[in-house]
Amino acid sequence: MILERIGKKEKEYVRQVLASQFRSSAGSEMTGRLEAAFAARFGVDYAVSFINGTATLHAALAAAGVQPGDEVIVPPLTMASTAFAVLHADAIPVFADVDPGTWTLSPESIKREITAKTRAIIPVSLYGLAPDMPAIMEIAARHNLFVLEDAAQCFLGFCHGRVVGSIGHAASFSFQSSKHLASGEGGMIITANRELALRIRRFNSLGYKAVGGAAAHGKICKEMIQEPGYERHASVGWNYRMPELCAAVALAQLERIDDFVEMRRSVAGLFAEAIKDCSWLTPQRVTADYQHAYWSYALRLGEDVPFSWQEFRDKYSELGGDGIYGAWQLTYLEPALRGLRLHPDQSQQFSQGLCPVAEALQPRLLQFKTNYFDLDLAGRKADALQATISFFGA
Ligand SMILES: Cc1ncc(COP(=O)(O)O)c(C=O)c1O
Repeated sequence: MILERIGKKEKEYVRQVLASQFRSSAGSEMTGRLEAAFAARFGVDYAVSFINGTATLHAALAAAGVQPGDEVIVPPLTMASTAFAVLHADAIPVFADVDPGTWTLSPESIKREITAKTRAIIPVSLYGLAPDMPAIMEIAARHNLFVLEDAAQCFLGFCHGRVVGSIGHAASFSFQSSKHLASGEGGMIITANRELALRIRRFNSLGYKAVGGAAAHGKICKEMIQEPGYERHASVGWNYRMPELCAAVALAQLERIDDFVEMRRSVAGLFAEAIKDCSWLTPQRVTADYQHAYWSYALRLGEDVPFSWQEFRDKYSELGGDGIYGAWQLTYLEPALRGLRLHPDQSQQFSQGLCPVAEALQPRLLQFKTNYFDLDLAGRKADALQATISFFGA
């Protein structure tokens, strides 16, 4: 199986945007097409396109009414944007620990972190695997919390029969270039809630009244803005809009998304086959109720092995492997947060000891890239993995 990352369709849609000469009256046509197709694909009424999958999170929190000083529960084992977006909203990220088997946000740990100031939870589908969403939604309902799914790494993953992104009150996706659906940069929020979609749309587009008037589409009416007495801004917002050129690429990618997801799952299948007899490499636990989307194929290196993460990586590279990464540093241990008091009401100490499960896990993780577009090439990487395992002794 060979796929083209950027094919004919992407080029044709980009050509259509360029042919429009960026005339403002046609300015949001491609984003409108993308949003309609995206919402339909996820079976929700509203999709709002963004410049990236960090702005999405910020906008959704603000639109949900998260206020300065409110607490938002996030996992520490994820890309830093999840917690940064909470800080962008002037709220306080509260780190809950992860489950030792799935490595995703632990419902039990969430329960321990809830206080009177908690307003929201951001469960992350880590590497493409949803957390225990039924349990998280139950906790949220009990405490009246907003649930924002961070599905940046998960396209068409499933959790108890539901597509990831359709379970929380809203969900955020990223179209950054390593993602299943890539337009260089870009993002999307989906929600079934009209009022929320409207506020998200306004926040995304400088608080423009005319934009906010249409939750399903962001076109600004020309006649209205020509009047000298026209008042433009209903609220303070950001300019987080997705450019038309990105939307053109994203729409084409969306129309081909099944192929991209299938490719990643096939690549993950090759890696899974390569490790099946190895006693010291463990993948995420995926139970029968879940379908993993494999943004990355990640393994935990056993504690008792007589070699280091770096020695494993070097041998894998020597034997023909590539595209291997360690997991992100836990967000609260990054220099941007470590030891700091970023909010006057912050009660957690951003230091070692906060989330012991994630702290034990993070240095042991090996992330294998799955965004190959040639399955034979990926097969050679899986062979390299198998050879590395044989070298060290399964
Ligand atoms: C889990 C997660 N959340 C948020 C983001 C932020 O997305 P973006 O890079 O589009 O801002 C990413 C990826 O980059 C991510 O992996």
